[in-house]
Amino acid sequence: MLEIKDAVAVITGGSGGIGKALARYWLENQGRVVLADMAETGLEAARRELEGLGGEVATFRCDVTSEVDSGNLADYAIERFGAINLVAPFAGIIQDALLVNTDRETGMVTGKMSLSAFQKVLDVNVTGVFLTVRECVERMINNKCKGLVCLVSSVNSLGAAGQLNYSSSKAAMAVMPKVLTAEFFRRGIADRIRCVAIAPGFVGTPMVASMNQNALSKILDQVPLGRLIEPREVSSLVGELFRNEAMAGDVYYIHGGLRIGSRG
Ligand SMILES: NC(=O)c1ccc[n+]([C@@H]2O[C@H](COP(=O)([O-])OP(=O)(O)OC[C@H]3O[C@@H](n4cnc5c(N)ncnc54)[C@H](O)[C@@H]3O)[C@@H](O)[C@H]2O)c1
Repeated sequence: MLEIKDAVAVITGGSGGIGKALARYWLENQGRVVLADMAETGLEAARRELEGLGGEVATFRCDVTSEVDSGNLADYAIERFGAINLVAPFAGIIQDALLVNTDRETGMVTGKMSLSAFQKVLDVNVTGVFLTVRECVERMINNKCKGLVCLVSSVNSLGAAGQLNYSSSKAAMAVMPKVLTAEFFRRGIADRIRCVAIAPGFVGTPMVASMNQNALSKILDQVPLGRLIEPREVSSLVGELFRNEAMAGDVYYIHGGLRIGSRG
């Protein structure tokens, strides 16, 4: 079992709902946190909110789609705290649209998902994660750190209508733990660096607040738990995944019983 006390977490998307909640949880357990986000004001507000909870928190402005920023973030964590033990690349975006939208009366196409909506989501949610993970894992290996790479997938990785871009990005997160665990195993480091993904249902964060609220209320009608998942419930799962070294190479769902139906 690993301990959170003194362990160093690098969290991207750290001024957002799930990232900030994880930072809070980590600090309350006496861990150390590098909180990264591209939203500078949000990052500063998060630092003020989190300081004094216990542990130590530092912030770093970083666009996860930038290779330079991602390398600098990993270097900063090592310079500031001397280690990286948890990599939580949680920066993510949604930009929902149907592949093609049709007019209900004429049946003709009235709109399409734009190329930029598709690419932007893949850039942040897949390429951004790739860069954060690659740069942090390099420093973890070279600095002999032990710990966990915890990706964030989603129940929508199973396929949600209106989210071809987002669902595809989250399906990528579901496969990465298997690929990385196999690679770490080949290189003889799988006992030191594990990789998992969490797959939350609908969590009460700004991302969900920005969703179509009618669609959200229909989704909540399908959640056996009857409410949104709380960000601190997600953090608690990440904490357990970090501590428990038997958990590796897989996706761990946290959704209050939600199953997505055939209409997504
Ligand atoms: N909220 C949910 O219900 C839910 C469910 C499943 C998975 N997730 C995933 O959890 C993660 C966090 O979601 P959240 O609900 O906290 O979202 P959020 O919108 O509250 O926070 C996301 C954060 O990412 C940051 N960000 C966006 N683009 C960035 C970039 N290029 N570089 C650096 N930072 C960037 C934003 O500034 C924001 O602070 C996302 O990957 C999301 O897909 C969320």
